[in-house]
Amino acid sequence: MIEQLLEKIKNLKGAHNAVILAHNYQPGEIQDLADFCGDSLGLSIKAAETGAEVIVFCGVQFMAETAAILSPEKTVLLPDKFAGCPLADMITSEQLGELKQRHPDALVVCYVNSTAEVKAQSDYCCTSANAIEVVNSLGKDKQIIFVPDQHLGQFVVDKTGRDLILWPGYCATHVVITEEDIKNTKAKYPDAIVMAHPECTEPVKELSDEILSTSQMLKSAKKSTAKRFIIATEIGMLHALKEQNPDAEFIAASAKAICPNMKKITLEKVVWSLEDMQYKVTVPDEVRAKAKKAIDRMVEILPEE
Ligand code: 13P
Repeated sequence: MIEQLLEKIKNLKGAHNAVILAHNYQPGEIQDLADFCGDSLGLSIKAAETGAEVIVFCGVQFMAETAAILSPEKTVLLPDKFAGCPLADMITSEQLGELKQRHPDALVVCYVNSTAEVKAQSDYCCTSANAIEVVNSLGKDKQIIFVPDQHLGQFVVDKTGRDLILWPGYCATHVVITEEDIKNTKAKYPDAIVMAHPECTEPVKELSDEILSTSQMLKSAKKSTAKRFIIATEIGMLHALKEQNPDAEFIAASAKAICPNMKKITLEKVVWSLEDMQYKVTVPDEVRAKAKKAIDRMVEILPEE
């Protein structure tokens, strides 16, 4: 059954000159099938670079939207039209407009987990991999509004010493990981290195050894001599970590950290997506042109290695 679906996808990909991009939180079989797996920054760079005519984006709405903004001449497909990101929807363009009115001199940095309309109203976009570098690139005298994730924002405040104006958004999947989860798992595996995503809460990050984007976790595990890791992020991350490091052990900080939207993508839906060219993700020209400026800045400012 799986073999048949994979064969179908291979043929359809060839027929449509398509590429399959998958986020590190996707179900394992989708990651295995993808031409490229990565974090939000890596996927955005790939989406801009690819020569394919069709991008099947195995991720959530804002990721496909970012690809459509960077590559408007390509057809961008999201295999499940309801694969959204509740964090991205936690600030509307109207709310950002009001915030900007209250701080008229501030620059706006938005996390890539945001709608195209919010990006269009922002000066800079960033991902969890380069948020520090993006903020550090801005003049010290500048006030900065950071939306929508308060926990990534707080991480940037701690690392840069800048006094950001934060928005109270959060990722429901990351905030279920508690301080107790980390303490209990560490007590069981005292030799383990704890890696946390910056969207985790502050007490969780304080107990962690490394705070990294998803692809940075893969790089760090590869370089490390440690043999055991506790992973505080969405559990899809464990698939690639285990595959790329067969001699090490990876333990989820919380088995509850499952993003229901990322898990909406299935092999069947990828087949239907390519058969029917659905669901096309497009961004109106006016919004796209404005949002692209912020995203172009995001893909230019690379994280320090
Ligand atoms: P990364 O960019 O680290 O992969 O994170 C994406 C994301 O949506 C986290 O919730």
